[in-house]
Amino acid sequence: MTTPADRIEALRRQLTQASQAYNERDELLIPDADYDVLMRELEALEQAHPELASAASPTVTVGGRPSSRFAEVVHAVPMLSLGNAFSDEEVADFVRRIDERLGRATLAFSAEPKLDGLAISLRYEQGRFVLGATRGDGSTGEDVSANLRQIADIPDQLAGSGWPAVLEVRGEVYMARADFEAYNERARLQGGKVLANPRNGAAGSLRQLDPKISAQRRLSFFAYGTGQVEGGTLPDTHSATLAQLRQWGFPVSDLCQVVQDVTGLLAYYRDIGERRDGLAFDIDGVVYKLDDRAGQQAMGFVARAPRWAIAHKFPAQEQSTTVEAIEIQIGRTGAATPVARLAPVAVAGVIVSNATLHNADQIQRLDVRVGDAVIVRRAGDVIPEVVSVIAERRPQGTTPWQMPTQCPVCGAEIVREEGAAVWRCSGELSCPAQRKEAIAHFASRRAMDIDGLGGKYIETLVEAGIVRGVADLYTLSRDTLLQLKLVLDAADPSALAGSYGPHLPPEGSGIVLNRVLALDANEAGWRAAALAQPVRFAWNTKKIATRWADNLIAAIDSSREARLERVLFALGIEHVGESTAKALAQWFGSLALIRRLPWPLFKRVPDIGGEVARSLGHFFEQPGNQQAIDALMAQIRIGDEHAPSAKLRQGLDRAQLLVDAEIPGITRLRAEKLAAALPSAQDLLDAEHGQFVNAGLPDDTARGLAHWLEQDHHGALLLASEDAMRTLLAQAPAQAEQVGGVLEGQTVVLTGTLTALTRDVAKEKLEALGAKVAGSVSKKTSFVVAGAEAGSKLDKAQALGVEVWDEARLLQFLADND
Ligand code: IVH
Repeated sequence: MTTPADRIEALRRQLTQASQAYNERDELLIPDADYDVLMRELEALEQAHPELASAASPTVTVGGRPSSRFAEVVHAVPMLSLGNAFSDEEVADFVRRIDERLGRATLAFSAEPKLDGLAISLRYEQGRFVLGATRGDGSTGEDVSANLRQIADIPDQLAGSGWPAVLEVRGEVYMARADFEAYNERARLQGGKVLANPRNGAAGSLRQLDPKISAQRRLSFFAYGTGQVEGGTLPDTHSATLAQLRQWGFPVSDLCQVVQDVTGLLAYYRDIGERRDGLAFDIDGVVYKLDDRAGQQAMGFVARAPRWAIAHKFPAQEQSTTVEAIEIQIGRTGAATPVARLAPVAVAGVIVSNATLHNADQIQRLDVRVGDAVIVRRAGDVIPEVVSVIAERRPQGTTPWQMPTQCPVCGAEIVREEGAAVWRCSGELSCPAQRKEAIAHFASRRAMDIDGLGGKYIETLVEAGIVRGVADLYTLSRDTLLQLKLVLDAADPSALAGSYGPHLPPEGSGIVLNRVLALDANEAGWRAAALAQPVRFAWNTKKIATRWADNLIAAIDSSREARLERVLFALGIEHVGESTAKALAQWFGSLALIRRLPWPLFKRVPDIGGEVARSLGHFFEQPGNQQAIDALMAQIRIGDEHAPSAKLRQGLDRAQLLVDAEIPGITRLRAEKLAAALPSAQDLLDAEHGQFVNAGLPDDTARGLAHWLEQDHHGALLLASEDAMRTLLAQAPAQAEQVGGVLEGQTVVLTGTLTALTRDVAKEKLEALGAKVAGSVSKKTSFVVAGAEAGSKLDKAQALGVEVWDEARLLQFLADND
């Protein structure tokens, strides 16, 4: 039998190991949520058995031992940890304890986000940054000053005046989500090591011995307190201290607030909880601190944490579960993404049973196998992902995973693109999976905006063969939609729960369904709707379905009148996002022209390179796609077509065509010589190596060109390109059109949350004034519009000295230029 002493011993060992791995090696042995549960168990046991207390118990000690790679720093004021509250009652207990001791009428607290990063202490002497250290075991940390100097948020010299001679500022170093995603995206493309979570990114980076490495990961900092203060004083309250720190140049979160009593604390918790997914960084809870310093001193400390502060935790963003299967999902462009089917687990308040594994390389890197215990992460609005395998818990007899050779949906071969991490189903639009995704994309808000046509309806319409291509959406009848809705809701018991019991549908104004949709039952659950028997539906179920069908028909109808850029985006051409679609529409003006253009011509549009141009060319070369466009154009009307832009005239000549066609070794200069010597594409095709040399090409380039012309329809491509060039030159107006808009030529970046208008609307308005709206800040950025909670982009703008506008200024500007 296990005695309490045995269990205490085991828990202490397990928790100490996990905490050392986490703090010293940035390794996660136990997910945070499990760690908290074990810690709670240990605390309860120790409380019940005071005779077994130990000063070395992880309930008393803080973090890990400092690593010997860095110089040690002894903290003048210890860096403590925080106690945790997991429920409203525990928060109420916390407040009651303070209330009982201080006996005040009301209690004011500073309520703050609890950022998930790494605690550090920054020491300033006479206003200059002199030393920065990790928490370590709370009394001794590591000197990571060199790495901290790489963080733009950390001032080297304090701003303003009136700082104490010695000031230690404490806070959290963290990695913003966008920086984390960008880092991992790059790592995945380059086959490098991906970071499990932003916290690991921050911790791992600070513990690099080479500051250049940590400089490559963009880290941020936010201040939440102070350590040693000498030769000066700070305000009497914590909130005023934070305001002061902000004036001295430290970032303090805008989410920090002063609230009163338990009700205020809990309201704050709910509010931040609701905003959690939309924040620019990960938080794992909120922190409440008694606001006045005198009260703090009166409360004092327990073993490793102050009695005047507590962390109120959110449901964890990482949990452990097991992989039941690894399947592949086929996307709109055929990309095969491996997905882990998991034993369902609640992650940050949502039940997760699927998680992305990104691509085959990622599976290999993590060595995820069916049967493995893994850690899944769900943060923000990012799709849940498997971040690591818990190696110690791997069962016997597992085997490494391999990409299947055939598409599970259509049976076509799955092929790997040369030089890329992507595997693709080669079935294109004959693959139902790709068709469904293509239709869902077509209907999506930013494309044709057919509101109400969700994934499950599309899936069924495609499976039942009612919708084969996007044009079929326009011939759907109201009756078909009505039946679709009723059948699918019948297959989803929760949708009917309120309408009638499982066995006896009530009599009434129901409609009789037959097997119009030819749905077959299968294990996927909601797809099962084999309705052999006529079913009567309650009148309110029918009423809801009727309204849905009417609205959908109206949405489909209003999408019949569309803008060219929307249609181009809606076609779902690989690499053609909204901004490319918009540029294509502006430069070429009509779908009739665009759909016949040989790919080199697309490169005349600034920002369109070889990859995007080839992708466009490939899409329009497929007879199936051309037929789909014909069918679509019989249903919709593009209202804003126009002649190709006059700007096309600049730089559009035969020499440029030869360059754009990416003939090996053909530079602009050589292309000009060739174009002069051989005045048409046909001349070029008829010519031989000797004539190329005569035209001025080096021998090997001439040979290369002759060889190129013989390959892969290159001759036809050149002839067609030359034809298209003539058409374009004939249609484009000779005069450059009037450049319009006060922001013509300016590049603007939007960041943070805007309140009066959405980012999309802001973007549209800025673009209407001629601005280009870009995704990242560079020296060329004209100005940055920073909303609330703006993160790394704002920092970068400030670092580069780029002008920053707040929302009010933007609104004023838009109003002035309306
Ligand atoms: S106050 C004596 N405030 O959470 C008070 N900590 O679980 C010490 N943290 O070590 C900490 N956000 O790394 C405080 N607003 C915040 C925080 C915060 C994140 C971290 C910090 C601390 C840990 C305790």
